[in-house]
Order: sequence, then structure tokens, then C-alpha cells
Amino acid sequence: MNSKTVAQLLSQDVTLQDVSIKGWVRTFRANRFIALNDGSTINNIQCVVDFNNLEEALLKRVTTGAAIHVTGELVESQGKGQSVEIVVKTLEILGDSDPETYPIQPKKHSFEFLRENAHLRTRTNTFSAVMRLRSSLSFAVHKYFNENGFNYMHTPIITGSDAEGAGETFRVSNLDSKNPPLNEDGSVNYKEDFFGKETNLTVSGQLEAETYAMSLGKVYTFGPTFRAENSNTSRHLSEFWMIEPEVAFMDLAGNMDLAEDFMKSVLSHVLENNSEDLEFLEKRLLDEEKTKPQAERSDMSLIEKIKFVVDNNFKRVSYTEAIDILKNSKPNKKKKFNYIIEEWGADLQSEHERFLVEKHFKCPVILFDYPANIKAFYMRLNEDGKTVRAMDILFPGIGEMVGGSQREERLDVLKEKMKALDISEEELWWYLDLRKYGTAVHSGFGLGFERLVMFATGMGNIRDVIPYPRTPQNAEF
Ligand code: 4AD
Ligand code: MG
Repeated sequence: MNSKTVAQLLSQDVTLQDVSIKGWVRTFRANRFIALNDGSTINNIQCVVDFNNLEEALLKRVTTGAAIHVTGELVESQGKGQSVEIVVKTLEILGDSDPETYPIQPKKHSFEFLRENAHLRTRTNTFSAVMRLRSSLSFAVHKYFNENGFNYMHTPIITGSDAEGAGETFRVSNLDSKNPPLNEDGSVNYKEDFFGKETNLTVSGQLEAETYAMSLGKVYTFGPTFRAENSNTSRHLSEFWMIEPEVAFMDLAGNMDLAEDFMKSVLSHVLENNSEDLEFLEKRLLDEEKTKPQAERSDMSLIEKIKFVVDNNFKRVSYTEAIDILKNSKPNKKKKFNYIIEEWGADLQSEHERFLVEKHFKCPVILFDYPANIKAFYMRLNEDGKTVRAMDILFPGIGEMVGGSQREERLDVLKEKMKALDISEEELWWYLDLRKYGTAVHSGFGLGFERLVMFATGMGNIRDVIPYPRTPQNAEF
């Protein structure tokens, strides 16, 4: 008799004499019906026990959260709600639970409470569905790149550079913080630190990915990135996973095509492979929507929103056009925005991005050709001398999902830019080398994986789509 998963048993259309299954008790009803889940599917398998066959003392230990092993016969279900069920022959308690203190009671818990119990929250339907979807999306990411000739590259986690130049890095050091070696001027002497220089956790694998694109052609990274940004929002993490493809000989238009095709592909993958979890999350979201005022409710369900993205072209709009739209928009004229758009050059806040995607275009939008001075140093300067070949992809309900650009491939222009921003040429000598030896047009982007998981699951807080969120003042687990 071999053990099967709940998912395997539920998809079985024949009855089976001897089945064996292990899982955690979700509920035990009327001393007769055990709802058992093993994480393989959102659905539980019903195990029917005959009170006369099993000791009372044993049945008392069948409580919510306990791990059990059941053997029996898989039969067509007598009751409603499931096609098959197990008539239990033997039942073994693998691990008791304490019904008094077990945090995951069979009732509705708030997400805040579940965050405090993140080690057990995947025992709930919502979080097991979200995390299965997260896993499926990661697989789809690798599948897409693999099928399209990309090499998977592992960029370093510890680095000396701050790719985005925003100064939001976490220092990596093993100096004695109480008594660090000092320079004559009193500053810390990092030459004596572990790596002989100042180092930090990476904010992006892009710069290193560029070096591999300029030899392997098409590469991508998919790894953790770290930002010491003190923004406590529902869309920011201090540790998040980023997908960063980088391609030689590809310009900004090619970059937009790649990003759009990629996102449609991974979302199609979950539509095809994760329908049960999506249907569950869709229903959860509908129930949540019912508690909101009519005006705030979404006119599309979760699956409809995903299909809409897969089936429709993203709208491509230049920054300049977007500023015109925003300047003439109602919330700008009526001073409803917190930041009023006065003139060209303004950085867009999330309220503006949301207006564009949710109110004006009502679809994903690719904004491109931003003013040079609000974007990172490595972006390709346009012929107008004031805009760069940058693109941001904005999603309804999420805001910025992707940030990318064509890279500055001209050595002199790049050096000038770095000088203006006080970025050390010595530090990035290897990055400049790429522009000295066989430079060429190349482009790439970064997609915040958790924001993609938020979109695909309909979860409203980024802390609920990563197993153990790291945010300011919080690194539990
Ligand atoms: O726009 P960003 O900062 O771009 C880069 O880092 C480039 N080097 C990427 C590249 O071209 N290879 O970040 C890219 C994406 C954002 O669009 C957003 O989705 C996500 O990363 N992101 C965050 N996600 C969660 N928490 C944060 N604190 C994030 N910061 C950025
Ligand atoms: Mg960005």
C-alpha cells in the first residue's frame, strides 16, 4: 500500500481498496468526519470514521492541527461537497495538537494575526493557495526563460555597488561595532573590514547581469534583493525577489515586447495550472469586496483581471504624454492629488500612476522616455538630451510592477553622467570596461516578484505573498 497525496486521491475516478494518507486535521465533525489536508491541494479529503471500530481515547486526539495517518478504502462519497471519501480502517496519531493553544482555529482569522503566526499560516486555505501560486509562478519564470534561450545567472548578493544609487543599502561588515578601526580623520577604516572595502547587500543584480549579457547574449537573474527603504507601505519589502533579464543587441522597444510577452506567459501558466487555487482566491476576494462600498468595488473578478492582462495589449505611453494627461485630469485640477502636477519633469507618485492605469487607461501601461534626472545613471540618454530610454510598467491595483531601460552603451556619455552624480569610476571600472571592449546596444528590466504574486492572487498586502516578510522593525522567523 503506497501513500498518495490528497490531490492524487481526489482526482481518482475509481474506487480503491487500500489507500494510505498522511496529513493535518482541519476539522473533525460529529465524531465521524475528518477533513484532512496535506498541502497538495486547496481541497480536503473527507475521512469517515466508524466510532465503533476505533477507541474513544484515540478519537479524542483527532483535533484541529494534529498530524495523522489514515488507511482505508476510497469510495464514492455519500454526502455532498466531494466526489470521493475514505472509509477509515486504521488511524494513527503522528503528532498531537493542543486544541486550547493551536493558533489556527477553524474560523476566520485576520491577516494581521496570521502574519504573527507566519510559521503556521500556510495551514490555512488562503495562505496555502497563495504559496502554491507563488511556487507555480517561479516555475513559470524559469520555464519562460529556458524556452526562450536565456541563461540563468546567479548574481552576487554581497557587493560593493549601489546599482540604483539611492543610498538605500544594508551594510555587510564584520567589524566590531563597538570598537571599529578608525582612519586618522575618525571615520571607520573599511580597508580592515572582511572584504577590504565597504560592502552591502545588493539592491539589484543588473550591473553584473549586464556583463553576462555582453558575452552570453541573453541572461536573467532571479534572486533576493535588499533595500533599506524606510517605507512602510503595502507594496514595499526590505527583502524581495527580483527577476532581471538582460539582453545584448536589444533596444527599448524590444525590452517592452519582452516584458509584455513574459508577463503574459507566466500569468497564462497559472491560469492553466492553478485553477482551483485561483477559484478559491477569487471567491475570497468577492467576499471581501462585498464589505466595501459599491463605488470601490472592482468590476472584474480575479480570474477576469488576469485574463484581461493576458488577452490585451499593454498601453505604451511616453512620460511627456502622461504628464499632459495628468495635468488636465480632474484630480489635478481640483487639487485632489497630494502632489499636484505643475510641469514637465515632475516625478510621478503612486497616486498619479494609479490614476493613469485605474482611471484613465484601465489597463497595464508602459510609460517610457522619462526625464533623465529622475532616473538611474545607467539609462541611455535620448537624442533630445533630456530624456532617457527608461520604461516602467504600471499595473492596476499594484502600481509599478517593472522598472527597466535601454542601457547607456557610450563610454563618454556614461562617464559624464557618473561624474555628474559623483559615482566613482574606480569602483565601477569593470562596468566601464563593457563600454570599452565591444560595446553594443543592450537592455533589460527588473520585475518585483512579490508584486506579480500580489496581482495573480489578489492579495492586498505584499507581506502576505512572501513566506517571511522583512520590513522596517520586523525580521521575525
Ligand atoms: O525600479 P527598480 O528599482 O529597478 C531596478 O532595480 C533595475 N536595476 C532593474 C533592472 O533594470 N534590471 O526595481 C524593479 C522592480 C520595481 O518595479 C518593483 O516591482 C520592485 O522591483 N521593487 C520592490 N518590490 C518590493 N519591495 C520594494 N521595496 C521594491 N523596490 C522595487
Ligand atoms: Mg523603479
